[in-house]
Amino acid sequence: MKRRIGILTSGGDCPGLNAAIRGVAKAAYEMFDDLEIVGIADGYAGLIDGEYEEMKQSDFSGILTRGGTILGTSRRPFRDMRVIGDDKLDKVKAMKENYKKMKLDCLITLGGNGTHKTANLLSEEGLNVIGLPKTIDNDIWGTDVTFGFHTAVDIATDVIDRIHTTADSHGRVMVIEIMGNKAGWLTLYSGLAGGADIILLPEIPYSMDSVVDAVKGRMKSGKSFSIIAVAEGAMSKDEAGMKKKERAALIAENPYKTVAHRVAEQIQKKSGLETRAVVPGHLQRGGSPSAYDRALSTRFGVHAAELLRAGIYGVTVAMMGDQVVHNPLNEVAGLTKFVPQHHQMVVTARRVGIRFGDEK
Ligand code: F6P
Repeated sequence: MKRRIGILTSGGDCPGLNAAIRGVAKAAYEMFDDLEIVGIADGYAGLIDGEYEEMKQSDFSGILTRGGTILGTSRRPFRDMRVIGDDKLDKVKAMKENYKKMKLDCLITLGGNGTHKTANLLSEEGLNVIGLPKTIDNDIWGTDVTFGFHTAVDIATDVIDRIHTTADSHGRVMVIEIMGNKAGWLTLYSGLAGGADIILLPEIPYSMDSVVDAVKGRMKSGKSFSIIAVAEGAMSKDEAGMKKKERAALIAENPYKTVAHRVAEQIQKKSGLETRAVVPGHLQRGGSPSAYDRALSTRFGVHAAELLRAGIYGVTVAMMGDQVVHNPLNEVAGLTKFVPQHHQMVVTARRVGIRFGDEK
């Protein structure tokens, strides 16, 4: 049986992309006696601009453990896809034409929420599309887990562990900023795993008084240091009450003073305790995938190849319990999986004394 497929990786990179690409390719080479794979460069940018190349079977060997993506990636926001800009380019039309030009039977898209929205758009435009859920944020609707997430949890936990020893030596308050602009899963998991004393999430707006009380309370009870894990998108109750535009304007005033810096500055001012901010940033997306993510990416990739064999399109791969399944793109695209305020992990963290800055 003959098949010709295109693969692209879009949005922020993460460990496990290459493992997933390899999973799709290896399984598909086993299934089809005549398989051609086209690698599309830099995500949807390559599909729009017609940047692609035929790949060889050997291109998919030796990449299981490699971080990043061999195809390159870029962010092409979904909201701009139907907008005709100064270049007069109709991006949707261009993507459809290039799909035709490449003579594809199917397009496989590896990405997060934005990628899924454009994948759904292309599916509604009549292309055969299969999605795979990647992101260190773990915020894709309809899947228990995304690949890349657990590697990032391991990295962020290691950062918290390392900060613990220096915080202890100096008797300092250390505020560590963990990635996750909209959803706090990465901060919640790594904060719990790293034994943070306070966890601040976008989903649970904090009061600075409550954070300072918690830090002072620790000092009073004889603990010389405190560790605060703050999600990139965490906000105070006041900020949560602002309009999105007002909040963005506040941040734009000083983009280098990220949330960890703002929180650290206020803690030091209000408590008089020596406080430092640490921002591991893109370290959390770098390097080799963990064993968990290598296995997960491979399972997801193989499932995508099975969908291809069955001719099931307009879907994205997902994990439900311990089973790899798939969801219709039009049911999950555009939805974000936030941390529910009373999620069992939040309750568990509270039970071991972790504060979320919303306590009275
Ligand atoms: O979506 C993954 C992610 O790392 C988020 O956690 C973070 O907010 C964002 O990407 C950073 O994006 P960029 O790499 O474009 O700065």
